[in-house]
Amino acid sequence: MNETQMFGDFRTARLPRTAIEANTITYFRTAGGTRPDLRLVQLGYHRIIVKDFNRSDVLFRMIVGPILIRRELGALRVLDGVPGIPRLVGEVDRYALAMEHIPGRSLDRVEPGTLQPRFYERLREVIDAMHARGIAHCDLRSRGNVVLGDDGEPYIVDFAACVFRGRGLNPFIRWVFEQFVLADRHAVLLIKQRLSPELLTDEDRRQLAQELPYERPARFIGENVRKLTRKLLVRRGC
Ligand SMILES: Nc1ncnc2c1ncn2[C@@H]1O[C@H](COP(=O)(O)OP(=O)(O)OP(=O)(O)O)[C@@H](O)[C@H]1O
Ligand SMILES: [Mg+2]
Repeated sequence: MNETQMFGDFRTARLPRTAIEANTITYFRTAGGTRPDLRLVQLGYHRIIVKDFNRSDVLFRMIVGPILIRRELGALRVLDGVPGIPRLVGEVDRYALAMEHIPGRSLDRVEPGTLQPRFYERLREVIDAMHARGIAHCDLRSRGNVVLGDDGEPYIVDFAACVFRGRGLNPFIRWVFEQFVLADRHAVLLIKQRLSPELLTDEDRRQLAQELPYERPARFIGENVRKLTRKLLVRRGC
């Protein structure tokens, strides 16, 4: 299978579940409650990741899963070709999507002191390119969403919580989007503070000392929406 077939045809066609089942190599994570299955699948010479809410808790699967899949599909389509973002392979159905597998490990598995200044410079470039295409990630505080590739480069995954700027004509929407952009940049500094405090510059420290104006209310809303969703949509014991 060549690049065009992999990233051209499948982006518009649907990937059949039977092909995914038959070619699964391993599960990164199995579904439960609000979590999707994440599996590694071998398709020809390519390895892909399939994110799938099909086996998540039933109400979550029916109501929230398809919204998150649509959001992530939309983001990956817009970001296609941005270095540092996995390429979309295609939609499976309303519960699942497939994307390029990035060999590496996410930063929640990286020891402090491992990363070099260049990594953070490159990460900031990826984030700037993402913002330039009108997408703010909104969940970069979670270190699991940044991957240190085996090639030493940073990659960003998990666009389920992202925000779209749209055409950016409305000044209020533009202002709201700008707050999410600032939050993404701040999240990179928080990662640096946690994993590479020795690399923090005076300017980084100055920015870290300033809490973002809407950080507290945003965190409060985020945490409570998550708790409420779990309470309402996940059966006890999940
Ligand atoms: N394209 C990819 N290539 C390599 N690893 C990936 C890829 N996508 C996801 N992963 C790995 O799977 C983990 C979980 O993925 P992701 O964050 O998208 O799922 P999630 O259900 O939103 O998880 P969480 O709730 O923990 O954020 C990531 O931390 C990363 O280690
Ligand atoms: Mg994640």
